[in-house]
Amino acid sequence: MSVRTEEAIEFLTKSYAELGIDVTELEKRVGVVQQEITQKGTYLHTMEELVIGAKMAWRNSNRCIGRLFWDRIQVVDAREAKTVSEIRDALFEHIEKATNGGQIRPFITIFKPGSDGPRIWNHQLIRYAGYASEHGVIGDPASVSFTQVCEKLGWRGARGEFDILPLVIQENADAVPNVIEIPPEIVLEVPIAHPEFPSIAELGLRWYAVPIISEMKLEIGGITYQAAPFNGWYMETEIGARNFADQGRYNKLAAVAEKLGLNTKRLDSLWKDRALVELNVAVLDSYHKAKVQIVDHHTAARQFGQFETNEQAAGREVTGEWAWLIPPVSPATTHMFHQRYPNKILKPNFFYQDALFKRAEIMPVKRGGCPFH
Ligand code: ARG
Repeated sequence: MSVRTEEAIEFLTKSYAELGIDVTELEKRVGVVQQEITQKGTYLHTMEELVIGAKMAWRNSNRCIGRLFWDRIQVVDAREAKTVSEIRDALFEHIEKATNGGQIRPFITIFKPGSDGPRIWNHQLIRYAGYASEHGVIGDPASVSFTQVCEKLGWRGARGEFDILPLVIQENADAVPNVIEIPPEIVLEVPIAHPEFPSIAELGLRWYAVPIISEMKLEIGGITYQAAPFNGWYMETEIGARNFADQGRYNKLAAVAEKLGLNTKRLDSLWKDRALVELNVAVLDSYHKAKVQIVDHHTAARQFGQFETNEQAAGREVTGEWAWLIPPVSPATTHMFHQRYPNKILKPNFFYQDALFKRAEIMPVKRGGCPFH
């Protein structure tokens, strides 16, 4: 399938204008790209285009409250990484550089696009395993099917609540998937305790420092980068109000309420709400004490307000998806709650793509073998 020339030209026109590159340069570049597309069906982004494209994709991510920092993502060009070990090293390097000892830096590592480029099967580079057992799920229920695929591929999890999953990567669309353990020393994690209620620590909760989304594709000027893992830092509600609290995830509200001595017999004691807030306090305090960057939802909302101001000043409309922008804790305390945002999908942007491990789930997978053959 050939890249649509109009998409390429549209991106070049927009981005070159933003970068203040003059029109003769743009016209030259458009000519070269048109010729490249005619000859090869595709074209190669320059480093400058890759950088501005990735930044615009973040800026256009309607669900993201953290977009004030869109201009500060560091872009790594990994389009030359071909072998499994090169791809693995690029991913390990991403984890290390983004983690930065806790002072988290937004990073994106962009791999070769197309069928001869790599595939990453993980939802995030770092995530916890989930195991179905007779007594319910051990670990993260969101990871049960991916964990099963990892085990079909020969990995064996320790059956703990917080086991770091391995990376599953393919060299290209036709290659066998490789299961690669992440060295524990590059994975920063935070044990969760509460500043006023020591019993919360007895729950043994922990979470990793850096969320690195690896399942989405990045689209820039008609080119689809199917492997382009990216990260920011956490907002505390993601962990405290969703990952730990959702019934379909770690489902810890009742356990937290019990540690706090709340009356869980009556819904109208608001024990769920109180447990939620204290759990979020615990997450924030634990990350702060561990010197791992995290933002609370009030500060994040204020930062989003600044982003809106900046965008308006730049003459750009602020697009957004309201239901995602409002935090799950005390949403009406943020200005976004009282506003509406057009959910227009602009490009460049990040999009979901079919999870590759889903295919492996329905097909028998030989140990270390390929699920497709
Ligand atoms: N909500 C996801 C999680 O809890 C992470 C999504 C990306 N979040 C971020 N702050 N960049 O793991």
